[in-house]
Amino acid sequence: MDKLTAIIVAGGVGKRMGRSVPKQFLLLGDRPILMHTIEKFAMAYDHIDLDIIVVMHPDYHDYWKDLIHHYNFNIPHTLADGGKERFFSVRNGLKRASQHGLIAVHDGVRPLISTDFLQKIYEEAIEYGNAVPYIRPKNSVRIEENGHNHAIDRNTVRLIQTPQLFPAAELKQAYKQEYKSHFTDDATVYESLGQSIHLIEGEEQNIKITTETDLYLAEIILSKAGQ
Ligand code: C5P
Repeated sequence: MDKLTAIIVAGGVGKRMGRSVPKQFLLLGDRPILMHTIEKFAMAYDHIDLDIIVVMHPDYHDYWKDLIHHYNFNIPHTLADGGKERFFSVRNGLKRASQHGLIAVHDGVRPLISTDFLQKIYEEAIEYGNAVPYIRPKNSVRIEENGHNHAIDRNTVRLIQTPQLFPAAELKQAYKQEYKSHFTDDATVYESLGQSIHLIEGEEQNIKITTETDLYLAEIILSKAGQ
């Protein structure tokens, strides 16, 4: 049976929304954002040998266990400790991951990914070795550096999302590197070992819930989907 490990990173402690708990624990519909995200993986990959590793700051482990109890959440998963940057959170998750099969790394605050897309990106990763989703920018794009700015052709720009899927052993190897500040996603870390990235068109609805507006939009998308 095929093996997949999903590392769902929820190690952020940012409270930019001005709420008392980090975004991944806020309610979306009737349960916390992170529970929706985990459920999507469990549903999409119920025919695969799936391990789920959820990474969160140690200060929130007990809080999460209380939520699990409160919401009667029964999807099996392993908890790992979040780190100072996303890179370190993923690295901690990888320590708990199998050497075999593929690893999918996904942001815990992207609960609106569809199960159809999760199945599709898994097939692509099997076929091409890795798979990373993108969407195209709707706005014009400029680069600003050294006090100057210039336009670039937006048709060449790809905005990168998660989940990002890679062979387990290779991703583990890539994360042995020293941290660099441009390592904001897994494709960047994997690519820096000389690997090429296979892009696949993603879903616009797969937003990263970061602001109050994102949460508001997520509520609307969720209610339209009737989930
Ligand atoms: O940092 P950013 O907003 O891009 O966060 C993307 C995802 O990475 C979120 O799900 C967040 O919880 C996670 N993260 C993490 N550890 C950090 C920072 C962010 O797991 N130190």
